[in-house]
Amino acid sequence: TDASKGDYAHFMEKEIFEQPAALENAMRGRFAADGSTAQFGGLNVTASEFRHIDRLMFCACGTAWHACLVTEHLIERFARLPVEVDYASEFRYRNTPLGSNTLFFVMSQSGETIDTLAALREAKRKGHRVLAISNVVGSSIAREADGGIYQHVGPEIGVASTKAFTSQLLIGAMMALYLARMRDMSFTDGVQFANALKAAPDLVRRVLDQAPNIREIAKRYAQSTDMLFLGRLSLFPLALEGALKLKEISYIHAEGYPAAEMKHGPIALISERCPSVFFAPAGEIFNKIVSSMQEIKARKGAVIAITTEGMQLPAGLANDVIEIPACHEAVLPIVAAIPIQLLSYYIAVERGCDVDKPRNLAKSVTVE
Ligand code: G6P
Repeated sequence: TDASKGDYAHFMEKEIFEQPAALENAMRGRFAADGSTAQFGGLNVTASEFRHIDRLMFCACGTAWHACLVTEHLIERFARLPVEVDYASEFRYRNTPLGSNTLFFVMSQSGETIDTLAALREAKRKGHRVLAISNVVGSSIAREADGGIYQHVGPEIGVASTKAFTSQLLIGAMMALYLARMRDMSFTDGVQFANALKAAPDLVRRVLDQAPNIREIAKRYAQSTDMLFLGRLSLFPLALEGALKLKEISYIHAEGYPAAEMKHGPIALISERCPSVFFAPAGEIFNKIVSSMQEIKARKGAVIAITTEGMQLPAGLANDVIEIPACHEAVLPIVAAIPIQLLSYYIAVERGCDVDKPRNLAKSVTVE
């Protein structure tokens, strides 16, 4: 059942491995009959209202905020609409101007995070319609929103978010598809995008199959005191999420950075004792990422590369390599999330940490 760990050592482990099924559940019934776009039943916004949107704003906390950053990238890239993302805790006091054609979203797994609820109320107070992406049916945020999208991934018990995060990425990608198909995207590109999302569970399964290898890698880095996570474009937020996951459950200090920005500060930390996890997927800027890796290597920092199957890294550059399958840009962040979840999980287990209940953290932060 959902509330028991079954054969798994921790809820976090169970929830990592249940992601293929969770993604299926989050997609079910949400593609249009012609297969070229997404559809959502509970938004309470008509297609013509959607057509008049000229900007979107997302507010969230923690891991959900990282999911919003990926969503920003995908909506701007595919639907060509400007998107702003803010921490809910900042938005509520920042008095941001919200245009009348701005679509306002909050994203919250639990639907109970107090700062996110306050952001929702602040937007409503300004007369805005507010939409919510949440996993908990009937939660405070779901009840107070004017419409929204449920994640439908079942209860998430581990404090470190895993399946809730990847389902938020999936819903963000489906939102990008929906908005794009009202604007620039052709039928054929829409079908290709939708099919790519439908293939996500299988691709995730293929990364999960590498868990034993990732566990061996984790053992080699479990005694680190600091770790950097570096990524670019849609994987910059994944670098933030990797660092968050690791520090939450293993108490290793970690930072996420855009790979090219590390030379403006974090590179000062590089030593034998501070390894870097690099997202180096196939793509136009693969070579730029490789040169960032070379800068780390030149300073004796170990490199763990997460790269696309078939990509050739210069010999001796990466100390360890984790391969992910080639995939559509919209699916890449979902697939790339799996190695960082497994890496942090196995490092925390190796260190004997209480993975499901890390010190000082709550699953849902209901006080300001
Ligand atoms: C807490 C949890 C995080 C979560 C954040 C936002 O800090 O430990 O895992 O990402 O709250 O939670 P929400 O339920 O609003 O998504």
